[in-house]
Amino acid sequence: MDPKLEALFKPRSIAVVGASRKPGKIGFEILRNIIEYGFKGKVYPVNPKAKEILGLKAYPSLSAVPEDIDMVVVSVPAQYVLDVIDEAGKKNAKVAVVITSGFKEIGRADLEEELVRRARKWGIRVLGPNIFGMIYTPARLNASFGPTDVISGSVAFITQSGALGIALMGMTIVERIGVSAIISIGNKADIDDADLLEYLADDPNTKVILIYLEGVTDGKKFLKVAQKVTLKKPIIVVKAGRTEAGAKAVASHTGSLAGNVVIYSTLFRQTGILQARNVEEAFDWARAFSYLPEYKGGKLVLVTNGGGAGVLSTDTLSENGVKLEPPPKSLVDALKPKLPGFASLGNPIDVTGMISNEGFVDAIMEALNNPEVGAVMGIYCQTAVTDPMVIASMLVRKVKAMGGLPKPLVLTLIGGEECYWAVTKLNSAKIPTYPMPERAASTIAAVINYTRMREEVKRRLSELNEVSD
Ligand code: ACO
Repeated sequence: MDPKLEALFKPRSIAVVGASRKPGKIGFEILRNIIEYGFKGKVYPVNPKAKEILGLKAYPSLSAVPEDIDMVVVSVPAQYVLDVIDEAGKKNAKVAVVITSGFKEIGRADLEEELVRRARKWGIRVLGPNIFGMIYTPARLNASFGPTDVISGSVAFITQSGALGIALMGMTIVERIGVSAIISIGNKADIDDADLLEYLADDPNTKVILIYLEGVTDGKKFLKVAQKVTLKKPIIVVKAGRTEAGAKAVASHTGSLAGNVVIYSTLFRQTGILQARNVEEAFDWARAFSYLPEYKGGKLVLVTNGGGAGVLSTDTLSENGVKLEPPPKSLVDALKPKLPGFASLGNPIDVTGMISNEGFVDAIMEALNNPEVGAVMGIYCQTAVTDPMVIASMLVRKVKAMGGLPKPLVLTLIGGEECYWAVTKLNSAKIPTYPMPERAASTIAAVINYTRMREEVKRRLSELNEVSD
């Protein structure tokens, strides 16, 4: 890994070139985010027309800044960017975060190549151009023009789309998904997904990496790095440009080649990368990986108070390659005396619509504590004889008393407003919960599939090693 990337995540000092005096302009908002999110290093606004911006002394040029600078955020029009890179080089900058658009994505590949050439000459790594910036919550660094109050957590999100990335930043706040990093990579002129994966693989603050991908510039490098990273932590990819029309849209968005969808999917699988069908699914999975302990094998057991929701979940699991086996006999024996005679004790275990709050929670806890069970999915349909908030409170209390979840558990609470609040409560307690059964089922399938794919990758790598020995 290039040690210069350390300056992207943990710079000691930042200069914002093009820090505007006017609220609402990109250069102003980036500077404001850096200050308001609580960055502790030195911050230098650079603007030839300003003396002071947001209470900080402004400098007419980078050369006027009295010290060396680790990170230079560039927010000036494209025609000035090359000169800024030269000045940054003289200040021993390690990384340039180039917000500016107007490069390869509009046919100016020549300007982009020159940007990289100049940066390389000075030993500067470039993030971008054509990006909204980057965030690394452990360093209280928000060098972006997205929302300010990003919630810290362990999901790292790399996005090739700027506007979508900003929008999803907002969504992580509403959905209470904590992030370690959000990185806009735009045209990927220099720093690419593979470079970031290498860094994040060893980042103790990141448990799962989510990538919105339009295309890769160096496929071999990406797969080689990803294969190593998936042995350490899950990578979830949403691949855009799946259709011919989508591929054309990709070309005019970031100038990337979308490539063949089948080839991408096959390579992702072989590498141990989880491919989500859409953004919602990707974030559902990321939330679960960031909350849950690892799946270490054993049966998946479904506990439901609604037969139909159990069937829908079974369908989704099957579509995602997860087959349900009969529940362990010891679990059936433990539950049978507590359930009505017409309860179905297959898998899903249907505890029936007449189950009480306590009965539903008890069945989930029995399943969680059974040594032959490796993962549990709880499926709750709101009934008049139960209260979702009571169920949520009981589960949160019991899981806390256990010292946290011993194995993966996902829940779905299907129903009205009370369910909405119960889902929020459970997610705040780091028990991944979804309002629809298919979302919960696809999530637990991803948790199981990650472990399976990783074992497969390990097996293939050790075979390759044996052959080459
Ligand atoms: N050094 C320092 N400061 C300078 C320089 C320079 N060489 N030249 C100009 N400035 C100052 C300006 O005076 C101005 O400050 P002021 O507002 O106080 O007068 C400030 O820097 C910005 O310069 P402007 O010429 O006003 O440029 P503007 O802010 O309009 O645009 C920008 C710059 C934002 C980089 C624009 O060129 C651009 O690329 N916009 C698109 C960014 C983008 O969308 N990124 C893509 C991903 S995100 C997404 O898709 C949503």
